[in-house]
Amino acid sequence: MRKIALLLAMAGTIALPVQAQGISPTQTDIMKKLIVQYGEKAKAEASKNAKGKPFAAEEFSAENGRQIYLMSRNWEGDEMPACAACHTDDPKKEGTHNQSKKPIKPLAPAVSPERFTSVEKVEKNFSKHCRDLYSRDCTSMEKGNFLTYLLSVK
Ligand code: HEC
Repeated sequence: MRKIALLLAMAGTIALPVQAQGISPTQTDIMKKLIVQYGEKAKAEASKNAKGKPFAAEEFSAENGRQIYLMSRNWEGDEMPACAACHTDDPKKEGTHNQSKKPIKPLAPAVSPERFTSVEKVEKNFSKHCRDLYSRDCTSMEKGNFLTYLLSVK
């Protein structure tokens, strides 16, 4: 009996939240909508650049997004703290603000139902955190890759 009670308790604390969650249709809709928008903007940004080539949203890469999430260099090659400095190396884990030490709910939509439910909030956080790290907003290419990576985290 004790063993069963223990198993049930464990199921309640560990197995259930994981099974009951998972990315919601709202989160998928919002993230896909943003990816299409960033794709359009990335195309426009590329056409302004002489070296730019035509670009489609499907070309965003989860691997490039993962590099942005983890890397400690920005696109200009300067040494920088990465998104992982606050959001941890694993977007499914709870983060800690590197200065205030306040907890930050995981960024991965697969485990955080309230993430990526508001376009405005995503835009605001992107601008703020990219400026904090790189002293500029992220490009549409970076944002598209970043969201593609987070969508791929199961
Ligand atoms: C200095 C700490 C810190 C760093 C570094 C940081 N973030 Fe954040 N981030 C936060 C906090 C705190 C929140 C939670 C804000 C909230 O929930 O109100 C957050 C939330 C977000 C969200 C909001 C998602 C949503 O819909 O709720 C996005 C997007 C985001 N961060 C992107 C990034 C990216 C991209 C980087 C790297 C370029 C980055 N962050 C680096 C602290 C940080």
